[in-house]
Amino acid sequence: MATNRNSNGSSGGGTVSPAGAAPRNLESPVYAQPEPTPDPQIFKITHPSDAPAYKIIDKLNEEHRLKALPFPAPRALGPEPQLTLLDVFGNNQRAIGAIEQRKQITFHSTGDCGSTRGPKTQNEVTDKMVNDFTDSDPREIPQFCLLLGDIVYSFGETEYYYDQFYEPYRNYPAPVMAVAGNHDGMISPLAHRKSLEAYLRNFCADPADGFTVTPEAGGLSRTAQIQPGVFFTFDAPFVRILVFYSNTLEDPGVIADNAIGNSQLKFLRVALERVKSENYQGALLFAHHHPPYAIGSQHSSSTEMRAQMDAICGEVGIWPHAVLAGHAHNYQRFTRRRSDGTEIPYIICGNGGHNVQKLHPHGGPLRTPQIVQPHAHNEDQVTLENYDDTGYGYLRITVDPQQLRIEYHPASDADQAKTPDDYVTVDLATHKRTTYTPNNLGFPAEAEQIRQLHRQQARKSRTATRRKRKTRSTARRAARHS
Ligand SMILES: [Fe+2]
Ligand SMILES: [Fe+2]
Repeated sequence: MATNRNSNGSSGGGTVSPAGAAPRNLESPVYAQPEPTPDPQIFKITHPSDAPAYKIIDKLNEEHRLKALPFPAPRALGPEPQLTLLDVFGNNQRAIGAIEQRKQITFHSTGDCGSTRGPKTQNEVTDKMVNDFTDSDPREIPQFCLLLGDIVYSFGETEYYYDQFYEPYRNYPAPVMAVAGNHDGMISPLAHRKSLEAYLRNFCADPADGFTVTPEAGGLSRTAQIQPGVFFTFDAPFVRILVFYSNTLEDPGVIADNAIGNSQLKFLRVALERVKSENYQGALLFAHHHPPYAIGSQHSSSTEMRAQMDAICGEVGIWPHAVLAGHAHNYQRFTRRRSDGTEIPYIICGNGGHNVQKLHPHGGPLRTPQIVQPHAHNEDQVTLENYDDTGYGYLRITVDPQQLRIEYHPASDADQAKTPDDYVTVDLATHKRTTYTPNNLGFPAEAEQIRQLHRQQARKSRTATRRKRKTRSTARRAARHS
């Protein structure tokens, strides 16, 4: 979307306000800037090396002195904090009504989008995502983006929010929500800051204050997101997403232990019981930063976290239709086949912009699909279906009353392709993979003409049938009277 690029290659807007500058409160949410702007070539604030901090962290890690950090309780009362797309839209009932009427919602997701090296890779991804808003069929237009954590590297610092979040998403014309990742909650041992401080200000602002433009936005207009906290249920038409915070360790993800308590396990149980008692028919997704299944030499599966969640799903008898995660800086798609025959896609999309990682730096490409080595003999069979460990990309997800479709789009396709490189479709009723039934032929106007033609033909056929019946009954009456 490069337009009006100025001579120094910067974006021509957005100076970083000092942290602590007064926020602006608005009545309605604001997403994108009114005019498209060029991608910057450099960060406003040059990111220094974090090597000295990592030296200390690595030493603490070797000594097993790093633990999951306690986090603030969500703002909302009760065990299941809730947020709706209606809240996020600033109570715009018409917009929600239109999605319901169209019987499909589309949204984006990607993770690990922050970068310390420069804006290029993040912008590759967001530019392609913004291109999805040009579709002519309103059903295909994304309604929001859910980031899967690691928004700002290396330690979620306030001063890098502009370069790593607000600037890359400045032209993204929809709300952006964010799962908190380990880098959003980690604190540099060389800094005196609270864990998650900037994340909470920018993604968990209190809607009682209206929609707030924070100092981190650096003069841009996007308002802070109003999530109730680091874990919550997000309800949009046709889809419900349970968001968790898997804490600050590099590995594994931790959602409950003696130090941080079990509020997220209580949340999971209450949320699943509500799905059951409401007989919720939409798509149910889980989203958290650390992946329950991962292959490769950089990040491993968070098996303990998965076992804790599995136990509750099993006890309540409700399982998600799919699980989204980030953390590994690549794309990986797994299918978990449960003993009752149902199938759950587990997807990692952690290549939103930060330093893409090969699954095995010194190995060749993997043949897929392949069965993943189980950790225990009684584990469900898990298959690695597909992956991308060479480029950046994002998920485009569509949900209608029957099916959930998760597509992977590489950023390198730019605006030249809208065909995903990988996809999976889940039938909502059976929790099994299925063949996707598309809306139309890709030409909505022509498809509408065909539908009208079908309706006309059906009307003609009904009229012809009525006429025939009338003619027959008239003939029978005439025969009786002759
Ligand atoms: Fe990351
Ligand atoms: Fe991470």
